[in-house]
Amino acid sequence: MNPAAYAVLDLDAVQHNLSIVHHYAPNAKVMAVIKANAYGHGLLRIAEALHDVDAFAVARVDEGIRLRKAGFKNRIAVLEGFTCVEELAELLHYQLDSVVHSLTQLEILETTTLKGVCAVWLKLDTGMGRLGFRAKEFSSVYQRLNRCALVKQPFGLMTHFASADDMNDDKTLKQIKLFDETVAGLSGELSMANSAGILGWEQSLRDWVRPGIMLYGVSPFPDSIGRQLGLKPVMELHSKLIAVKQIDAGDTVGYGGSWTCEKTTKLGVVAIGYGDGYPRYAKAGTPVLVNGGRVPLIGRVSMDMITVDLDTQPDAKSGDPATLWGEGLPVEEVALWADTIPYTLVCGVTQRVRLVEKQHSS
Ligand SMILES: Cc1ncc(COP(=O)(O)O)c(C=O)c1O
Repeated sequence: MNPAAYAVLDLDAVQHNLSIVHHYAPNAKVMAVIKANAYGHGLLRIAEALHDVDAFAVARVDEGIRLRKAGFKNRIAVLEGFTCVEELAELLHYQLDSVVHSLTQLEILETTTLKGVCAVWLKLDTGMGRLGFRAKEFSSVYQRLNRCALVKQPFGLMTHFASADDMNDDKTLKQIKLFDETVAGLSGELSMANSAGILGWEQSLRDWVRPGIMLYGVSPFPDSIGRQLGLKPVMELHSKLIAVKQIDAGDTVGYGGSWTCEKTTKLGVVAIGYGDGYPRYAKAGTPVLVNGGRVPLIGRVSMDMITVDLDTQPDAKSGDPATLWGEGLPVEEVALWADTIPYTLVCGVTQRVRLVEKQHSS
């Protein structure tokens, strides 16, 4: 019997989505971004599904260590790099690659007495305004890193896009130009493109690409869904009706009584809530599939439950299946209803939700 709330993961879809990465970037090496528990899909399971990629990327040292302890031999880049000398020691011990983006990290590399060799990605801030060195300091930082005994030469050079999901924003072209100008004449492999770069900005492809969200079958663009881009969604989120009842005109539903019933209505309670990662700010009207048919969310999302209007599903009864996102209801659409991006929905699925791997008939 299925638990109340569970997510089904299609691992064949991960492989398919990787093939789409290769299709768009046939000459690039792939650094699969599997940080944040592989965007909520389960770190080790997704790493296994992607075992033949050239490298993995995670955000934190701990995530990399978890992969190494599980036996993965691929290169693993830590996108935030080390935050102190102790973490640098761990990087060396577990042979994890580090992004170097700050003077603090550079000074640690210059002064440490640790021994070993660390592969490094030097990060240029071309306009994201987050991690990375400014263009005007890049050359001097590059020279300093060149002299660090600990750093494997030549090291990689990378940047990250701020607005590649907006095809009408020329910021991406400016970022590409600044990157090219700044790294001209420097040796080392180059990397710029995230999913939106891979799918939308061919001119951003270099030696390495860094796909994240597209590997999970989700579109990085606000105006499309993964399927329209040839991707296959990996995650479906399901639950079931645990109560069905009639409410009358004038009755209110949920915390704060924010939804008032206008006519006699058949109401369903679905066992899913923000405690499972369903978005608290999903608005009334957000579609939910009950027995495969769309019904609207009514009232506020609670920790463990949501309420839906079952008027278009007159035969629905307790125990019937409900899908929060999946076939027929893209996660991208649910994200729009909740004023968020699909990244937050898949990443936000909590430990209470059982993750089940889809069984394919051979
Ligand atoms: C440095 C870096 N590269 C690549 C990615 C992957 O981005 P996306 O999931 O949009 O493909 C991320 C994700 O945030 C990132 O921080």
